[in-house]
Amino acid sequence: MGRITAETISELQSRLDAAAVVGDYVKLEKKSGRWWGRCPFHSEKTPSFTVDPERKTYYCFGCHEGGGIINFVMEMDKLSFPEAVELLANRFGVPVTREDSGYGAYPGGASGELEKKKSDLAGLYGRVAGSFSYVLTETSEGAGALRYVRDRGISDGMIRRFRLGYAPADPFWLHQFLLGKGYSPTFLAESGLFTKPNPRRAFFSGRLIFPIADRQGRITAFGGRILVGDGPKYLNSAESLLYKKRETLFAMDLAMNEIRNTKEALIAEGYMDVIALHEAGVCNAVAPLGTAFTTEQARLLGRWADRIRLLFDGDAAGRTAAAKAVLACRAASVHAVVILPERGAAELKDPADILKERGAGYLKNFTEHDIIDFEYLLAENAPGNSDSAGKAKAVASLFPFFDLVDSEVEREGYFRRTAEVFGISAQSVLNDYKVWREGGHGLQGSIGAPSRRSISMNDELYLMTAVAVNCGINSSLFARLRSAIPIEEFEDPYARELYVTLEECGRADNMNFEALMNGIETGELKQFVTEKAATREFSEKPEFIVADSVKKLKAEHLMRKRNEIVVKMRSAKNDGLSTEDLIHEKMFIDTELQSLKGVNK
Ligand code: CTP
Ligand code: MN
Repeated sequence: MGRITAETISELQSRLDAAAVVGDYVKLEKKSGRWWGRCPFHSEKTPSFTVDPERKTYYCFGCHEGGGIINFVMEMDKLSFPEAVELLANRFGVPVTREDSGYGAYPGGASGELEKKKSDLAGLYGRVAGSFSYVLTETSEGAGALRYVRDRGISDGMIRRFRLGYAPADPFWLHQFLLGKGYSPTFLAESGLFTKPNPRRAFFSGRLIFPIADRQGRITAFGGRILVGDGPKYLNSAESLLYKKRETLFAMDLAMNEIRNTKEALIAEGYMDVIALHEAGVCNAVAPLGTAFTTEQARLLGRWADRIRLLFDGDAAGRTAAAKAVLACRAASVHAVVILPERGAAELKDPADILKERGAGYLKNFTEHDIIDFEYLLAENAPGNSDSAGKAKAVASLFPFFDLVDSEVEREGYFRRTAEVFGISAQSVLNDYKVWREGGHGLQGSIGAPSRRSISMNDELYLMTAVAVNCGINSSLFARLRSAIPIEEFEDPYARELYVTLEECGRADNMNFEALMNGIETGELKQFVTEKAATREFSEKPEFIVADSVKKLKAEHLMRKRNEIVVKMRSAKNDGLSTEDLIHEKMFIDTELQSLKGVNK
């Protein structure tokens, strides 16, 4: 199937009714030319989510999510770009045309090429997963691995659902096999499936394979557990174009619906734990991938879940991880509850063990008992018989949590509760906390909360932002800018990225805000531009803003050149060289500067 044409997308763009689409998911109310509602991406009580019917974009002033309407539908319904386009096109009666060749899925210039690469890679991973699964379930070579999985209490249904597989022990088998399917050696060498030193040797061999998928269920990476012999217990694919560890959760594709229905997500530690939980009917279980549970992951889950249930191993490492995960959740404004590990049952270390030893019903029941995040931290830091200094230290370990509590009222409640547990006054908890904060501790990035506004405005970015936010409404702005200032004269990297992306949209004949957003690679920049579009700072008379800024930038550029010439003239004089050319050049620049000023009047 060919790629959807740019014409289809711009036709859809012009016909779709933004408020009607978003209105299906969010209750909207019209106020001063734009629509307001409660943000579907984070939980809030007062509406800070807006839809701009003219620009056809959405933006939340609370969580800074924003983008075009196609993107909105992608996010809400976990659709790929072409799927979202099909859905909307159908609704607004826009015929979908596709290009004859190529099978990349996304529109627009360089991003189209990147998407083709990604979908080629996902195609390969899907195919390899299929082969591994066949080897596990249908061949004698996989028999040992299959027995191992079943022995751990995993049913054939779960083996299929998780697309588990076995990578044959011969490390050269996979390469041979894929060459036979027509894949080129160069493509395979860059696929991440083979070792760097020997591109014919498979990275995974003789291992039980856990495919890792993105939200749409496309396989993007693998984890592999050793079964016999020496080596690390798990090997995991390296990060790639398709796979970003910190943003991915194992089984998110399978857990998504249940997370949405229950408004809760359960975090376990490992692959086997998640499968065991799904086996027990706890289908909102996911796991981070060999790393700590991150704020990014909590934020992602927070779009659908009001609460995150943490179920970590009962060992010391698991308990520390749970305490950190509590903070990661709070940093993403999501409350967590902690499921306490089995007490006094050393052999029942994790959910996978519980499933094997006690069965599915017991495991499910076990996951239903929890305590709220703060009570967990309190219990972990319980005072015991400690002296005053010990108490002070234990109370201080709660400060990072206090710091992440959004509500003053809630925080006061925690001060009181702490006071009660430690047998001290709430006032002294508050006092120590204040001293700690004033000592420069606290929020500033320590927990890894995403810094939201790392981009600062400057003249170049101001101009490019003005052009960018209005690119769908007035496409001649970029044409004018382009003929006035070449990209080389820009120094700010973000301004340059906007310039390049606009150029690509123009070349693909797809000059609209949504295509621009899809083309921008830097997350913060995307956010920055959507935010500016939403605040309408650049909506009034953009032609004047652009014309003014162009003049200003040109003048600045000329001034810089002039200064360089003056410096050169000085050193030429010192060296006894002719300055005639330089003088001419300077005169030329001065005239240009003069005429710029003249127009200014
Ligand atoms: N992990 C990893 N690399 C390792 C060990 C662990 O990436 N060498 C990750 C895996 O994602 C694993 C998770 O950390 O699932 C939890 O580790 P662990 O508790 O050791 O593994 P289990 O999932 O319990 O594996 P099993 O039950 O099969 O022993
Ligand atoms: Mn484990």
